[in-house]
This record gives sequence, C-alpha cells and structure tokens, in this order.
Amino acid sequence: MIYIGCDHGGYQLKLELMKYLDSNGFEYTDMGCDGEAVDYPDIAEKVCKKVLETEENKGILLCGTGIGISMAANKIKGIRAALCADWFSAKFTRLHNDANVICMGGRTTGAGSAVEMLDVFLHTEFEGGRHAVRINKIKKLED
Ligand code: RB5
Repeated sequence: MIYIGCDHGGYQLKLELMKYLDSNGFEYTDMGCDGEAVDYPDIAEKVCKKVLETEENKGILLCGTGIGISMAANKIKGIRAALCADWFSAKFTRLHNDANVICMGGRTTGAGSAVEMLDVFLHTEFEGGRHAVRINKIKKLED
C-alpha cells in the first residue's frame, strides 16, 4: 500500500501525483492535507506510521521544498525518506538505500519530473547485497 501526504506547499503537486497513481492502478491512501495550512511534521508522522506497518509499504511526502517534511520523516525510526529532485536519485535511492518514502518539493519540482521520479521509485527494487550491510549500519545509528 502507498500512503501520500502533503502540507499546503505540496498540495498541487500531490493532486498531480494522485492522477498518476489513479491512472496506473496503484492503491493508495491520501493522508491529507486538502490545501489548508498544516504543519508538515504532523503529515510526516501520519504517513510514516502507516508506512511502517509493513515492509512493502511506501510513502510519498510533499511540502514546499520537500526539505522540512523529509527532515521530520527521517526522525522516525525505520523510515528512510529520500528527498529527490532528479530521476537518477529516485531510482538509486531504491536500489541502494531501500528508501521507503520519497519526498519532493511542490514549489521546486515540476509535475512532469515528479511523475517520472515517482514512477521509477515505485518500480525499482532494493538491490540488497553490499547495500544491505550499509542499511544495517543506518539501523544501528537509530539505536
Ligand atoms: C510552508 O510554508 C513551507 O515552509 C513548507 O512547505 C516546506 O517548504 C518546509 O520545508
């Protein structure tokens, strides 16, 4: 399952990404907001708690720059949130970092690139191997 959330700065981009999810048959839950002013840490918390329910879940978080919401998400144990602004990063954060959340900026990233980044993020599996060793070291930093 995919969980998507945004603050007011990411709302328009969220609508574009939900269009992509709808037209590509993805099941997802929209955790807000609906365009009203909200505090991005609250949305990060809501989405990330759902993402952590199973290993396969993924999250999409959007704020004005993507920065605040990714900072908040990465405070939550088990979350590996990647702030992406290019396709290569969106692909390699799945391959190498096993990111479970992608973050983007609604005021910094156009809808076309955002859709391409989301598409590659959702279709790329973690490579494991030497990268798993590194992820385990990240997990140790959480303790
Ligand atoms: C909200 O105005 C803005 O600060 C927020 O969307 C985000 O850009 C924070 O990092």
